[in-house]
Amino acid sequence: MPKRQIAIDGPAGAGKSTIAKLVSDLLDYTHIDTGAMYRAITLKAMRLNVDLDDEDAFDFLDQTKFDYKNGVLFMDGKDVSKDIRSREVSNNVSLVSSHALVRRVLVERQQKLARDHDVVMDGRDIGYNVLPKANYKFFLTADVTTRAKRRFLENAKNGIHIPLDDLKQEIITRDDFDSNRKHSPLKAAEDAIVIDTSDMDIEDVVKTIEAKVREEDTDEF
Ligand code: DC
Repeated sequence: MPKRQIAIDGPAGAGKSTIAKLVSDLLDYTHIDTGAMYRAITLKAMRLNVDLDDEDAFDFLDQTKFDYKNGVLFMDGKDVSKDIRSREVSNNVSLVSSHALVRRVLVERQQKLARDHDVVMDGRDIGYNVLPKANYKFFLTADVTTRAKRRFLENAKNGIHIPLDDLKQEIITRDDFDSNRKHSPLKAAEDAIVIDTSDMDIEDVVKTIEAKVREEDTDEF
C-alpha cells in the first residue's frame, strides 16, 4: 500500500512540531521534524569548526547518520535532541539550511523516510518541495509576538533563558532569511490549508487538522 503523508509547514514558533507529534500519535504515523535535521547538521558543523558560509565544508553530510527512536533524534548514534535547541544553533541554522548541498542531501533522506513510513512531516518546504503529493498539507501561522512567547515557554522548559524581546527579534530575522533564500524558501504550497493559530491552543489546532483529515478520509481513524 502507498504510504500516507501529511505535510505541516510554517514559520518558526508556529507550533508545527508539537502539533505534528500529536497528530502522528493520533494516527499512529511517524513524526519527522525536518527542522531538527537541519539543526543537527548545524550542530555537527559547529563542533567540527567548519566555515558555515562554505557549502563545500559540508562534505561530512554523507557520513552522517540519523535515527529516530521514540520521536527522539539521534545523530551518529547520540541523542542530540537537547543540544540542537541551543541559541547558537538557532542563530546559525538558517545559514546552514540555505546551502543547496545541505538541502539536497536532507531532502533525499526525508523522501526516503516518507517512502518507508506513513509520516507527519513538518518543516518549511514539505508541502511544495519534499512531499508535493502529500495526502494533506497544512501551513500554520501565528503573529510574531505569540510565536516568540511560545518559544520562550518552550525554552524555559528546557532550561534555556533568552529575553522575550531578543527571541522576537531572532525569530523575525530567521523568518526573513528562510523566506527569502534562493533554494526552497519558506512558503505555503498552493493547495495547503492555512491555519492561523494565534488565538488557538494546541488542542484546537490538532482538532482542526483531525477534522480535515476525517472529513476527506473517513477510513483514516
Ligand atoms: O523548525 P525549526 O525552527 O527547528 O527549523 C530550524 C531551521 O531549519 C529553520 O530556521 C529553517 C530550516 N528548515 C528548512 O530550511 N527547511 C525545513 N524543511 C525545515 C527547517
